[in-house]
Amino acid sequence: MTGQPLPGFRDFFPPEHSALRSIFEAWREASRRSGFSEYEGPELESLELYTEKSGDEIVAQLYHFKDKGDREVALRPEMTPTFARMVASQHRNYRKPIKWFSVPRLFRYERPQRGRHREHYQWNCDMVGEKSVAAEAELIATLCLGLSLLGLGANDVVVKVSDRSWWDAFLAKHGVEEKDKPGVLRTLDKLEGSTPEQRKDKLGKLAGFVEEAWQGQGADSEALKAVHQGVKDLGYGGWCETDLRVVRGLAYYTGVVFEVHDRAGKLRAVAGGGRYDDLLKKLGGEDLPAVGFGMGDAVLAELLKEKKVLLEKKGGAEIFVVAEKAEKSLALALVGQMRRNGWSVDYDPGAGKWGKQLEVAEAKGARWGLLVGRESAEGRLGLKELATRKQLEIRWSRAADENICLEPNPGEWAKVVG
Ligand code: HAM
Repeated sequence: MTGQPLPGFRDFFPPEHSALRSIFEAWREASRRSGFSEYEGPELESLELYTEKSGDEIVAQLYHFKDKGDREVALRPEMTPTFARMVASQHRNYRKPIKWFSVPRLFRYERPQRGRHREHYQWNCDMVGEKSVAAEAELIATLCLGLSLLGLGANDVVVKVSDRSWWDAFLAKHGVEEKDKPGVLRTLDKLEGSTPEQRKDKLGKLAGFVEEAWQGQGADSEALKAVHQGVKDLGYGGWCETDLRVVRGLAYYTGVVFEVHDRAGKLRAVAGGGRYDDLLKKLGGEDLPAVGFGMGDAVLAELLKEKKVLLEKKGGAEIFVVAEKAEKSLALALVGQMRRNGWSVDYDPGAGKWGKQLEVAEAKGARWGLLVGRESAEGRLGLKELATRKQLEIRWSRAADENICLEPNPGEWAKVVG
């Protein structure tokens, strides 16, 4: 035993977990403001769900095994197949367009490196039932909102938009057979940072045409023009650029695809997504168009670090009750009452010496010390703002229903301490 998690897995100690939660809060808030409803699915799925739908790259990274019932199962490496499976089975019960989001933890056996682990959390937003690229615009605007809630802007990130169907037509025009297209698209997805010689090596006679296509970025497809207009109307025009180099590694995309990158180009993609109009049909559902994206926590956290955006690292409880041994019962009654009233309250259950309890309160980062000393018998308590050491007296009393009343109540403490 080393005390370390497995390679590529992360422990989140409370300060790191608090930072992670700030990311989740921004994701959930952006989803809520944009009208997406939260869902969840199983961590374990049948292996087949991925081998048939996701493409070779992800399949090579699967954590899979036989369960005790002899079923071939896999830990989910992405959410889209689960989402598509769930929607395909129940879509009749929901008004279209369906707009759902989730924050699953995903597992991929990758080589661990900066921003890339063997597990990560991923914000997934997906929309089903909208054929027009208004759906792409809506999803891109939602991810921009999520990033802006974390303090990032168009100077920090760029949404690179491309079109798989444009590439499809391009490959057909250059004689690539249908069965070879997925392989060529995967090669195209891996060309980032390659030299012209390497491209020639990998693509043969196609290399020159690809080069030309990359340079002819102005040749936006109609779909891309409409996406840019929609994103601009929603207020994020400056965030988006056409970049045909983006093709995406996953097999199921059929139309517009996009990735979010840091402007400096130092990190791998923060998010990626696109249209996958055939997946629901393949999963036995109806022919329903779909668009979505996934944003990982790990690359995002690296980017926030680069940009020196500090995520709040909250400590424990806000109020810490410090009590004389003889007043323990009243102290516990206060703890219980304040918690029921919505305050975050802690105390030292071992109830050491007064000074020790105050030390614990400070070490745990509480804002307030509520001091239950001998004067409490006369209805008096001490209130101490621990950081400033300002102290004053407050009153407590028991109401007819046995509830304890504080005067002033915790909501007003900041005002009275000043
Ligand atoms: P993806 O491009 O495979 O797409 O992943 C989306 C994002 O998740 C990446 O841009 C990256 O930030 C993060 N990510 C992926 N793998 C790792 C890893 N090993 N460690 C850390 N972060 C990682 C999908 O998964 C699609 N299912 C997204 C989607 C949803 N498309 C439509 N709807």
